[in-house]
Amino acid sequence: MNNRRHVHAVEWHSDQLVLLDQRKLPNEEVYVICETLQEAIDAIKSMIVRGAPAIGIAAAYACVLSARDRLKQIDCNDRSLLNHLIIQDLVNLKAARPTAVNLAWAVNRALALLEQSRVDALDLPFELLSLAKSIHEEDLANNQLMAELACKHLKNTSPRPFSIMTHCNAGSLATGGYGTALGVARLAWQENIINKVYADETRPWFQGSRLTTWELHYENIPVCLNIDSAAAWLMSNRNIKWVIVGADRIAANGDVANKIGTFQLAISARYHDVKFMVVAPSSTVDLSIASGDLIDIEMRDASEICEYRGQPLAPAGVDVINPVFDITPARLIDIIVTEKGIIEHPTREKMLWTLS
Ligand code: MRU
Repeated sequence: MNNRRHVHAVEWHSDQLVLLDQRKLPNEEVYVICETLQEAIDAIKSMIVRGAPAIGIAAAYACVLSARDRLKQIDCNDRSLLNHLIIQDLVNLKAARPTAVNLAWAVNRALALLEQSRVDALDLPFELLSLAKSIHEEDLANNQLMAELACKHLKNTSPRPFSIMTHCNAGSLATGGYGTALGVARLAWQENIINKVYADETRPWFQGSRLTTWELHYENIPVCLNIDSAAAWLMSNRNIKWVIVGADRIAANGDVANKIGTFQLAISARYHDVKFMVVAPSSTVDLSIASGDLIDIEMRDASEICEYRGQPLAPAGVDVINPVFDITPARLIDIIVTEKGIIEHPTREKMLWTLS
């Protein structure tokens, strides 16, 4: 068994953005190099890189690529022209995926830097690079802190150890490293709080079966794969005490957008008296959105459902709908864990108190 600790979904190497191609896992470990902004946008759209925090980090590095591309084009040291062209680019970058707010959050930090920074045009890419590196490092540190906060809370559940269920992939692959929900699973396993992770396969893109089991299996953390529709049965027949998931955007009232299927998991958890935890850095919280019904839900291509690796799974021409996120209402969530603190039974007031 490979004993490598954590995989890196996003890296900056030799002046290039290097992404682990998550479409190819677990069969092949292939890295894609992005040398231009457009290549980075295409990588985000096509889910070479995915998971809200990882998308945000990749976008921060993509801002460096934009500055570099544009500097080559203008071939002069005109800062205001450079700013103008980068700002145009960043509109396209922000639109690459609509639901995960970390993308817009990272781009907004780059835009604020553009406005405040007084360096020469030639130095701007270096400033953007140091911003991207700090966004990357902050995310990793936040994940470790959230895992500690969450595990302190999980220790109130007895008897221990117990099992947890997770959905999609909220691990190293989806973040700057360590993971949000899977960061909690990692630490909870080390501390003997949990003894097993049930991983929903997460149709249609199979983040659970292809990515979550891959990450945990590498580290010898007991993981058991189940089909999404087995979740309710497992909650009634296995020792599952918590569902632990990540998030793509959290509204000001605590409603959570996450991978499609999360909402039905929360309903089932409430029915079975299983607790429901959302783990996400404050960069995933969007206090400008009052409630979940205002969050833009990404719709992806029907082919993700109707075929698998070229094989048809449905009759040609059948009507298909493929929303890839859903909204879990705050009232179904027992606890939101951020690096700024824990919010139990989230409400607008508690969210503002902890996060603003
Ligand atoms: O479509 P994806 O794979 O980008 O969706 C990812 C998720 O829904 C994750 O649960 C979420 O981004 C949290 S990752 C720490």
